[in-house]
Amino acid sequence: MSDAILVTGGAGFIGSHACKALHHAGLRPVSFDNLSTGHAHAVRYGPLVQGDVRDAAAVEAALRAHDARAVIHFAASAYVGESMADPARYYDNNVGGMIGLVQGCRAAGVKRIVFSSSCATYGVPESLPIRETTPQRPINPYGRTKLIGEEILRDLSVEGMRHVALRYFNAAGADPEGELGEHHDPETHLLPLALKAASGQGRPLAIFGTDYPTPDGTCIRDYIHVADLARAHVLALARLREGGESLALNLGTGRGHSVREIVAAIEAVTGRAVPVRLEPRRPGDPPELVADPGRAVAELGFRTECSDIGTIVRHAAPWFGLEAGHVQAA
Ligand code: UFG
Repeated sequence: MSDAILVTGGAGFIGSHACKALHHAGLRPVSFDNLSTGHAHAVRYGPLVQGDVRDAAAVEAALRAHDARAVIHFAASAYVGESMADPARYYDNNVGGMIGLVQGCRAAGVKRIVFSSSCATYGVPESLPIRETTPQRPINPYGRTKLIGEEILRDLSVEGMRHVALRYFNAAGADPEGELGEHHDPETHLLPLALKAASGQGRPLAIFGTDYPTPDGTCIRDYIHVADLARAHVLALARLREGGESLALNLGTGRGHSVREIVAAIEAVTGRAVPVRLEPRRPGDPPELVADPGRAVAELGFRTECSDIGTIVRHAAPWFGLEAGHVQAA
């Protein structure tokens, strides 16, 4: 029988896409999710175990019940702004969650973990593009909790636990076959809010900050398609299965887009105007985050396939009731 993989946060945005990728790679995803932000209807590939990662006994029981040999750990709170307002919650869920997870893994004898880390661990980078060797100096509690998660995993290597920490840049898009998409509540991410604004369902898009030291004054991010991210997890698991050493990898495209460029791409792909309002900077936002994706290419052979901004918008638009057959964005 194929390997079972425990996917914490399997009912969430990236987790649900990863389960699909695992299934198509011949693995057996088992979603472990407390459904605090995930959705049971997003678990389409493999069973759902309802549980909390802070509960080591529940993690151990799920690993044993499904005979899982590895874990992908997505379950976490993931809003930068919320982490600034309620840091204790982030330390509890994200750091407490990592501790519960590794205790459950130790008890069940599972020694391979792929961890959902973030480019938020770099803070305001001292140079661009961001390499894995760029110093990690997070500027918000969310980023700090992800960095602590990486450090816990590094320390546990003394017991033979091996991991790949994947530092995502900005996950976006939706399943190319239209089965899965992005449903956060509340929604704070740029792409979904801009698409909602274009569809007339939402308020005009707030552009947070037009005085950043970037060419058009708005923040620059490296948007990577969720289906590309999902595929990287399958490659990371294969590496660990083959005995590869622990490592940390950026997952991005190497290309940045400003907020205004995202608005323009949505308008070009959907043929709809995105109503905007100009707002002050949002606390905790670095001006520019762009990955050097070279190490993931070298270590995993991972290359993005559908992360050009036009494809990201085309796949996400139908989730917001928009047609996406218009002129393709550059
Ligand atoms: N933005 C707006 N208006 C909005 C929402 C966002 O102008 O209504 C801007 C932000 O200021 C930022 C960019 O759009 O410059 C992207 O913002 P998102 O909220 O979509 O994404 P973030 O870059 O803040 O955060 C995301 C994930 C985090 C992750 C981080 C790493 O939510 O989990 O990427 O950069 F850590």
